[in-house]
Amino acid sequence: MALSSHSSLPAILSMMALVLVHLCSGAPDPRQREMLMQQEASRKTGGTVALNPAELQLNAYLHKLKVQEMASVPFPPSMHFFKARPYIQQSAIFKLLRKMPKGAALHLHSLSLVSAEWLVRNVTYRPHCYICFTWGGSVRFLFSSRQPFPTYNCWRWHLLTSLRASMVDPAQFDNSLIQNLTLFTEDPGAAYPSEDEVWARFEEAFHALAGLVTYAPVFRDYLYQGLEEFYADNVMYVEMRSGLSRMYELDGSIHDRIWSVKAYQDVSAKFSAEHPDFLGIRIIVSSHRIQSVSTTKSAVKGAIELQKNFPELIAGFDLVGREDDGRPLWYFREALTLPAQLGVYLPYYFHAGETDRQGTDVDANMLDALLFNTSRIGHGYALPHHPLVKELARKNGVAVEVCPISNQVLKLLSDMRNHPAAVLMTEGHPVVISSDDPTLFGTTGLSYDFYEAFVGIGGLSANLGTLKELAMNSIKYSSLSTVRKKTLYDMWQKKWDKFISDHYQ
Ligand SMILES: *[C@@H]1O[C@H](CO)[C@@H](O)[C@H](O)[C@H]1NC(C)=O
Ligand SMILES: *[C@@H]1O[C@H](CO)[C@@H](O)[C@H](O)[C@H]1NC(C)=O
Ligand SMILES: *[C@@H]1O[C@H](CO)[C@@H](O)[C@H](O)[C@H]1NC(C)=O
Ligand SMILES: [Zn+2]
Repeated sequence: MALSSHSSLPAILSMMALVLVHLCSGAPDPRQREMLMQQEASRKTGGTVALNPAELQLNAYLHKLKVQEMASVPFPPSMHFFKARPYIQQSAIFKLLRKMPKGAALHLHSLSLVSAEWLVRNVTYRPHCYICFTWGGSVRFLFSSRQPFPTYNCWRWHLLTSLRASMVDPAQFDNSLIQNLTLFTEDPGAAYPSEDEVWARFEEAFHALAGLVTYAPVFRDYLYQGLEEFYADNVMYVEMRSGLSRMYELDGSIHDRIWSVKAYQDVSAKFSAEHPDFLGIRIIVSSHRIQSVSTTKSAVKGAIELQKNFPELIAGFDLVGREDDGRPLWYFREALTLPAQLGVYLPYYFHAGETDRQGTDVDANMLDALLFNTSRIGHGYALPHHPLVKELARKNGVAVEVCPISNQVLKLLSDMRNHPAAVLMTEGHPVVISSDDPTLFGTTGLSYDFYEAFVGIGGLSANLGTLKELAMNSIKYSSLSTVRKKTLYDMWQKKWDKFISDHYQ
């Protein structure tokens, strides 16, 4: 699991000697050229990973596939993911990535784990499910034992079973519900003309999802289904951000946060018991960055308390929500220094640098995240614009959680080949790949994001060694204790060896 080392001094000196000799003759030396190319390649993610003969064979096969795929028209990573998805599903590389043991998913949000189809076809068909249509053209859901009261946004609630029974085309209606729960659509350019519009729909979809997922009996099934989808994608461990929303019952009663924490614990334990090659989940308690300092202070205190009582489950704390609309981390310094003042350690996993607004207050979030001793940086999209911050992060072993599809859908870039993580990967900066919000982006597990990172961001220079290091990074930079990391690493290695031998001709 070693990081790629930088070129040693003797290597640089010998290189300089070669340069001097060959400057005199005028013609570049092919040996020198070869050496420089090798040195550069060794710096990239996976550049120093040694591959055994079976791995080398699979690597050669992957290379051949990639050469073909990079010449194909259309080239999926150059397109919007919503248009590219059908092509990616046909890709031989994608099919291999689905089967590849990817280790851990480290950047996910707890309300957006499963496919929108499952939520509509399974959850909205349960009894006592009410729907309302909001003024803004969206929907809200509520499970209730009696007709729910009107609210400002929902003046009339309809029982879904009766509503569907009265419809000429319930299938068409279900499709419209699916549309409400995801951003996935066939013409993203027309649907989301600007960053503001796509973020507005993003928040709207979360409100629609919440009524379904925070119904206590659904929540357990939902979480279990989410883990099924990640497990089927060969992910073995999951860390998710969660605001620990309070779950409700049919009679309108509301559970406390401890109930939610225990539900996470129970479902994780049940799932691991039924799938011994799945390690479990951990929660990063999150609070919204739109909130005040005093609210954030109580959130930090709450996270400290939870971590003390549930050390196995609770990994740390984060601030979520759109950075460009929210307050910068520095604004919260009084809240974020609380653990240090109290003499306790609360690990941070800050979203930072999910922006293209260079030089704004928000653009300082990555530096501030490091000053608050963050353990990882969520997104770090703007990191290559901050060389000093990048150096500091690398020195402190702070990995960047790269979520390519999320960045594209939320309109930070259009062509994946231009993703700034390309720079990080060529330098061997510590990165992990994750999927942020599968329900909203129309992905499953991690494979689509791995595809974009491997084929689009990495290009031809990303190889099996790159994939192996990305998977190992997800274990190395997880919040797990050294002992549990070792357990997960051994589990992963076994699966990896099987994956290689399954593909060894
Ligand atoms: C929904 O999924 C659960 C498992 O989570 C299953 O037991 C149930 O039968 C499904 N219901 C429908 C209506 O598909
Ligand atoms: C949400 O569902 C409603 C009801 O079917 C539909 O009219 C509306 O267009 C949907 N909204 C989106 C964003 O798809
Ligand atoms: C960050 O870590 C340093 C070194 O361990 C420590 O001195 C400092 O108090 C920490 N800062 C915060 C905000 O926790
Ligand atoms: Zn996120």
